[in-house]
Amino acid sequence: MGPPDNFLTMLRRIEDAGYQAVCLTVDCPTGGWRERNMRNRFDPDPAVITGNYPMDGDVAPEEVFGQLFTKTARVWGWDDLAGLMARTPLPWMAKGILTGEDADAAVRAGASAVLVSNHGGRQLDGAPAAFDQLPEVAEAVGDRARIALDSGVRRGSDVVKALALGADVVKALALGADVVVLGRLAAYGLGAGGEAGVRRVHQLLRGEIETILTLLGRGGVRDIGPDAVRQSAS
Ligand SMILES: Cc1cc2nc3c(=O)[nH]c(=O)nc-3n(C[C@H](O)[C@H](O)[C@H](O)COP(=O)(O)O)c2cc1C
Repeated sequence: MGPPDNFLTMLRRIEDAGYQAVCLTVDCPTGGWRERNMRNRFDPDPAVITGNYPMDGDVAPEEVFGQLFTKTARVWGWDDLAGLMARTPLPWMAKGILTGEDADAAVRAGASAVLVSNHGGRQLDGAPAAFDQLPEVAEAVGDRARIALDSGVRRGSDVVKALALGADVVKALALGADVVVLGRLAAYGLGAGGEAGVRRVHQLLRGEIETILTLLGRGGVRDIGPDAVRQSAS
């Protein structure tokens, strides 16, 4: 069985819109169990959730998201994913990787980057912290793919820790690339001040990173290695 049509349609739309890469979440067949949302009766209009996903003539958003988010949906394997992503020339990053084993599988499926992430702790209760899993993933991936990290990045010191532990897309960010792996931090800036608020978040992060590098006695992010962090005994 080939990939569902709507997934292929989405890939075509991504290409047509001029995106140069795809970030694909690989570990969330359903949403987390969110009691605060239940208590607050958070029940957004599906049209808000689906945004500009559906197009005229597409299957209904409920159906599309039903395929992705029902507990009875067929669970995709790495081979299905590899088959789907082989249908686009765009490079892709697997998001939601927390083990060396999954990182290896993602790279074998064709991912050119992995995003070490527990989705900001919003999905699987009890999932390990992305920072704790980063060294294992970096070890498994080696130089076969780029490594990004999110979940819990709040300060410049978190960016420096991620660098020290092996995240290299974060290193690219610190070196001035366009890639940002921030979740809530960007959302907080957006909420507080729109686009200018997000720019301010980046400005603050950059300032913090520069201060930390100076305090560590390093000339720049290139000088950050594993010796810049020490993990406390647990
Ligand atoms: C309101 C909200 C919605 C999110 N929706 C998605 C989503 O649809 N798919 C996904 O892979 N991650 C989603 N995430 C997770 C973020 O992409 C990111 O992994 C996470 O926020 C990073 O952690 P941080 O918030 O601690 O930086 C969402 C996060 C938030 C706060």
